[in-house]
Amino acid sequence: MAALPSKDLDSDIGLKLKQQALKDYADYVNPMKVRTLKSAGLDIIEGRRDGAKVWDLSGRMYVDCITGAGSFNSGRRNPVIVEALKRALDEMDIGVFLICSKLKADLAKRLAEVTPGDLKWSMFAVGGGEANDYAIKLARGYTMKTEIISALKSYHGHTGFSLSAIGRDAYQKPFLPLMPGFKKVPFNDAQAIADAITDDTAAVMLEPIQGEGGINVPSDDYLPAVRKICDEHGVLLILDEIQTGLGRTGKMWCSEHYGIVPDIMTTAKSLGGSLYPIAATVFREELGDFLITNPFIHLSTFGGSDLGCAVGLAVIDYIVEHDLPGHAAHMGERFRAGFDVLVKQYPSILREVRQKGLMMGLQYAEDSLGPRMSYQLAQNGVMAIFTGNDTSVMRLMPTLVINEEEVDFVLNALDQSMAAIMRQRGGN
Ligand SMILES: Cc1ncc(COP(=O)(O)O)c(C=O)c1O
Repeated sequence: MAALPSKDLDSDIGLKLKQQALKDYADYVNPMKVRTLKSAGLDIIEGRRDGAKVWDLSGRMYVDCITGAGSFNSGRRNPVIVEALKRALDEMDIGVFLICSKLKADLAKRLAEVTPGDLKWSMFAVGGGEANDYAIKLARGYTMKTEIISALKSYHGHTGFSLSAIGRDAYQKPFLPLMPGFKKVPFNDAQAIADAITDDTAAVMLEPIQGEGGINVPSDDYLPAVRKICDEHGVLLILDEIQTGLGRTGKMWCSEHYGIVPDIMTTAKSLGGSLYPIAATVFREELGDFLITNPFIHLSTFGGSDLGCAVGLAVIDYIVEHDLPGHAAHMGERFRAGFDVLVKQYPSILREVRQKGLMMGLQYAEDSLGPRMSYQLAQNGVMAIFTGNDTSVMRLMPTLVINEEEVDFVLNALDQSMAAIMRQRGGN
């Protein structure tokens, strides 16, 4: 496997800047975070960022496989998107959220074009949690029902309704009581959803592939079965495509792999092109009834700002024009071929690979291997982290502009890292 030709060497001045930044972060933001990241080799302070790569202030180069959990699909500081934001900044600011905006109208129209089926209307937000909050509010407002069924191990954000929907107690316990009316069922179990539905169920809310939960790819018949159950019971289906969308899995939207259309879909993260926050809740024609009669029921000062919409439009154009979903599928296959070799070579380290396109999860044999592999990979020029729900799973989510050479670099780094762990264990 080929290695990239040069890794920038640490520079003294950069190293000093980095150490000061880490000290200030520990002193004024959070010392525990610095300690935890350091132990996983991720005490990196980002300096230059470009395409699939990032340079630590010390000058060290990394291929970024964290990407803010899939926030940089179109690449870091993609020059085309940087230019679109600069142009917008020459003329605009965020705009007055209470009145109509050309760029909001343009982005809503574009989203209606590129989202599946008859998804049409858009409500804008700043981030993913807020977009999911609105999805839940819309489901309740439209159906006049209360219950939301979501999945165990799911992740939908840390805002009010979204926090209640996520399937991980640790994020919720200190903040009880949460919003009432939320039920959790196992992921990839359509019958569990059918059993949980009552006359008061407004919606089922799922990630098509669970990200934080451990890159859990459901069986092919799961989402079609859930769609059918929702239709039979008159329950809305909300798909959170915040990690899986915008080309990540090899299609523009992950739901397209399964041939289904949700009633409400959320998108965020990569819509902001690594530059400016923007998120959207997109929903079907008929759900417009609720919004049209209540145009001021959900407001957000920065949500769908003119600057954010300018970026969102440039991101969608870039993804479509450069067929990033197709490229993600292709690069995903190259990764897969390398993973297959690694699984055979290091069976006591790498148990299983979970993957769709460039949404990739490595299931290690033990919990401790997540942090240890993060550490080793950082030494080998790759920034990668284990998932929030399960430290034995490493999430690899590079930008979708990653090229063959960079894929091979990551695979080589994985090989080197696993070999180092074998040596530490006293193997060969
Ligand atoms: C699937 C999913 N939904 C929602 C969110 C929340 O998005 P944000 O952090 O922008 O609020 C995230 C963030 O990681 C996510 O992965």
